Amino acid sequence: MPKYTVITMPGDGIGNQVLPESLRVLKAVGFDADYIHADIGWDCWCNQGNALPDRTIELLMKHKLGLFGAITSKPNKAAQAELNPELQGKGYIYYSPIVTMRQKFKLDICMRPCIGFIGNPLNYIRKENSGGFEEPQVNTTIFRQGTEGMYAGVEWTNPPENVRSALNSHSKFKAFADVPGPDIAISCRIITRNAARRIITAAFEYAKKKRFKAVTICEKPNVLRETSGLMEEAAKEVQKHYHDIQLWSTNIDAQLMWLNKNPEDYNVVVASNLFGDILSDAFAGLVGGLGFAASGNIGENVAVFEPTHGSAPKYAELNPSIVNPIAMILSAAMMVEHVGETDKADRIKNAVAAVVKEGKVRTYDMMRMPGGAKSISQGAASTTQMADAILAKL
Ligand code: NAI
Ligand code: MG
Repeated sequence: MPKYTVITMPGDGIGNQVLPESLRVLKAVGFDADYIHADIGWDCWCNQGNALPDRTIELLMKHKLGLFGAITSKPNKAAQAELNPELQGKGYIYYSPIVTMRQKFKLDICMRPCIGFIGNPLNYIRKENSGGFEEPQVNTTIFRQGTEGMYAGVEWTNPPENVRSALNSHSKFKAFADVPGPDIAISCRIITRNAARRIITAAFEYAKKKRFKAVTICEKPNVLRETSGLMEEAAKEVQKHYHDIQLWSTNIDAQLMWLNKNPEDYNVVVASNLFGDILSDAFAGLVGGLGFAASGNIGENVAVFEPTHGSAPKYAELNPSIVNPIAMILSAAMMVEHVGETDKADRIKNAVAAVVKEGKVRTYDMMRMPGGAKSISQGAASTTQMADAILAKL
């Protein structure tokens, strides 16, 4: 019997193009697993009124390891309009299945490495005083809290009377007291101490393992005094257990400005949900963008690995597919590392590094060309050709 069972959820759009390529790589590297397909995404919503079907939940609950491609997500009004007419008006509400999955399985540690590969033409470069350019080695891993914060989902337009009266008891709400219900929308930013400790501890453990000298907590405690304040407080507590690792603190706005100045100084950055989401896209932009951005959603029992990118509908129908499978393949490598098969994970990462360094096979994004049906005739590699090149290095 294989050692692992992995639930594969390609989902929507290009998820269906990149996930199968990652399975070829996993097989080539000898990862000893069975794979069970599970549905997730837009079709499930349209036809069942539920983007995360029960069978998928049961499979994940049982096997605890998932590989996920991407989903299409739309605002509630658009979602209602596309719901199968037989299901309309029956009270179905669209929820993003990935957000639901993170919350349901308490996948609170969202880990997003943004590590530049040598030779990647998309890497960040910086102008030197001499007028030349330098390419700093960006090696940043973002630890994003995955289940609460701004994405906790506790929100209203036209909040109910009891919520409004509770808000009225806060002196700062006086400024909004006269705004009519339908004209006011509220999202709660919920931070709990336990979850804050868990994400910060994960960041410190990673820094310890990789021998990095500091962890940066990136929040905004001078303004968001309660929620960011709690994050900072928890960070200071956790740091006491790691004498050799410093705690640095930056504000989210300043940190994004510093991306252009000294990104190589930040190896481990930890943040609440929304800030971590923003930071991980921002750092990913320095090392190749969405085609390279991998992630893991890790809970105490279940872990699901996925590229950061979405379903990229405009490329979903292209045949051959042109999107970059590297983000998905690196996500698969993270899964392999997560279960402790470090050698195999390293082999995958080294194979990707070798292809990038050689520079012979590049998808359209790596060539800075507009994506589209013409990309291949203009010299870009297809999704499959990129995966073939990685397999050849393996
Ligand atoms: P997206 O990530 O799907 O695509 C944005 C752009 O990035 C694409 O048009 C393409 O130019 C580029 N891109 C993305 N993946 C790439 C790859 N592997 N190789 C090369 N280029 C790539 O984000 P967008 O367009 O904002 O959203 C499309 C749909 O995906 C929406 O319905 C959105 O809600 C959903 N989404 C889902 C996510 C998930 O499944 N975790 C994350 C982000 C968006
Ligand atoms: Mg994002």
